[in-house]
Amino acid sequence: MRYASITRRLEGLGTDKWSVHYAAHAMLEAGEDVLFLSIGEPDQATPKAVVDEVIARIRAGRTRYSNGAGEDNLRSAVAARYAARSGREVTPDQVIFLPGTQSALCATMFALAETGDEVIVPDPFYVTYDGIIAATGARQIDVATRPRDRFHLTPDALEAAITDHTRVLLLNSPSNPTGAVLSAAEIAAIGEVCRRHDLWIVSDEVYETLIFSNARFASPFDNPDLAERTVVVSSLSKSHAMTGYRAGWAIGPADFTHRMLPFAEAMLFGCQPFIQDAATFALTNDFDDVEAMRCDYERRARLIVGQLEQAPLIKASMPEGGMFIFADVRQTGLSGEQFALRLLQEEKVALMPGESFGPSGAGHVRISLSASDALITKASGRIAAFAARLAQGRTAIGA
Ligand SMILES: Cc1ncc(COP(=O)(O)O)c(C=O)c1O
Repeated sequence: MRYASITRRLEGLGTDKWSVHYAAHAMLEAGEDVLFLSIGEPDQATPKAVVDEVIARIRAGRTRYSNGAGEDNLRSAVAARYAARSGREVTPDQVIFLPGTQSALCATMFALAETGDEVIVPDPFYVTYDGIIAATGARQIDVATRPRDRFHLTPDALEAAITDHTRVLLLNSPSNPTGAVLSAAEIAAIGEVCRRHDLWIVSDEVYETLIFSNARFASPFDNPDLAERTVVVSSLSKSHAMTGYRAGWAIGPADFTHRMLPFAEAMLFGCQPFIQDAATFALTNDFDDVEAMRCDYERRARLIVGQLEQAPLIKASMPEGGMFIFADVRQTGLSGEQFALRLLQEEKVALMPGESFGPSGAGHVRISLSASDALITKASGRIAAFAARLAQGRTAIGA
């Protein structure tokens, strides 16, 4: 039978990226003591009141069809949040509620890019971006960001990558995997390039609430000069430990949401009413859990950085936000992939190779912060021991 070309474009995309993680799972199943710092999923519990709310709403019969854009009170709650953040009027018709940032990003990209277009992505980038862009038929153009710039995108690098085909810049701050957080000034400068070339900015802000004390969150949506060309995609996955609820949204100019809605409807025709109620509840109440999670990740990042400071050949600096440390292992002479594989085999710690996040991730490994302090301490000890052994081996060879 014949299949559409999208199946070929996406075939096999992404499976190699997870090879170390899958190998770690196989070892775990074989009874080995593997420590996982490979996945970025909050280990904390969803706030109890949100769990109670979702159960109550199911019991109340909020289990029937909804509408395609999200119910009015929920869209108002999302809009109010962005109005408070930006200091501008934001209306519910600027919002579409979708199952997570992932689907919001996918629908957004389908609304903005297609075959013949180019989408610029700062590299390293989140593992699903290439699949989403390939699905639309557009070409992904990676713009390298560098360790010496703390992986921040520069306006010059962006400008150099723009062609007549460029339509969209996809930003992700705080970044997965690098932990880079763009400042308001950097976003203004990058945005000025986008304005000159009439580009959309799609801003993946799923880690918005996880900003550490060395940074401040900023968004192109909050910059009045960029709002007309910005679509934010985000969710409650990381802020409220609600990954499995699949509660996210896209928010942009009203004309954008109006044009994207039929696509969202074609795919889903609406999210579960009880999830929408839980999301409304989460967005309209304050939970200490949100700040507690931020503190957890910052404390854990300091723990790892502190422990790895003593280790030879590996450089781990404090991220500015998010759920990861992106450690530089180039001095070991190993690629990120070789380092991660050998670390798994020799010390039974699972990390993600930097190469999984694009060419500029080469020679790095991503260390997840979503594990207990005790596990993180134990894993950092094993990473340091591995680095020390590598250093010894080098000295022996050099001697
Ligand atoms: C950068 C980035 N964007 C999007 C997502 C997907 O988030 P959601 O659970 O809201 O779909 C993730 C998940 O890890 C992520 O790291």
